[in-house]
Amino acid sequence: MIKLAPSLLSADFCRIAEQIAEVERAGADYLHLDVMDGRFVPNLTWGPKIVQDIRKCAKVPLDCHLMIVEPEKYVEEFRRAGADIITFHYEATPHAHRLLTHIRELGAKAGVALDPQTPVAALQDIIDQADLVLIMSVNPGFSGQQFIERAYEKLREARALIDANGLACELEVDGGIGPENAREVVEAGARVLVMGSKIFDGGKPAEALQHVRGLLAT
Ligand code: DX5
Ligand code: ZN
Repeated sequence: MIKLAPSLLSADFCRIAEQIAEVERAGADYLHLDVMDGRFVPNLTWGPKIVQDIRKCAKVPLDCHLMIVEPEKYVEEFRRAGADIITFHYEATPHAHRLLTHIRELGAKAGVALDPQTPVAALQDIIDQADLVLIMSVNPGFSGQQFIERAYEKLREARALIDANGLACELEVDGGIGPENAREVVEAGARVLVMGSKIFDGGKPAEALQHVRGLLAT
């Protein structure tokens, strides 16, 4: 079963509870929350308080994508706020293995994200500690960017690594995903699709989500 994770980065925060309910009713599997610090990426979003508030009105697991430097300083706080999956960037810490283990100890699913510049081979010695691998198909920081084609090959490589080791690790893809390429990323090995602008920008998030679901079912 393919999981769909709408990214609230593109949602209307004046109507956030309503928008969450809409995508949940339409079958969203996770809510993807993009945490940005203006240092790891050139954009700012929100901290644990927003995650905590969203937790109160959300039913599905919260998939927190930390695009921040020194993620090890904040994982406990995001876990306390209600994050179910905590994904940090491989490029943001010198101790990815330790951090994955620590996130698991906190009772969350541990995810590691790779920027477009980082080869899948970087995962070789840490993937057994990961519950989720996130392949970035844009440079992190903004919604609405164009999908980087090289991501298909990286998904295939990551899928092969996961399968060869018999791991239950989820393979997620984030950036520039929509109806035009959802099938292709799944064929390349992705099992969790993050989508921001293509879900929310048209003003009909439930329809947009169901449209992608339908495309994947055929
Ligand atoms: C970008 C974020 C994404 C973003 C995706 O750095 O990690 O989650 O919301 O937006 P779209 O789907 O518009 O590329
Ligand atoms: Zn994201």
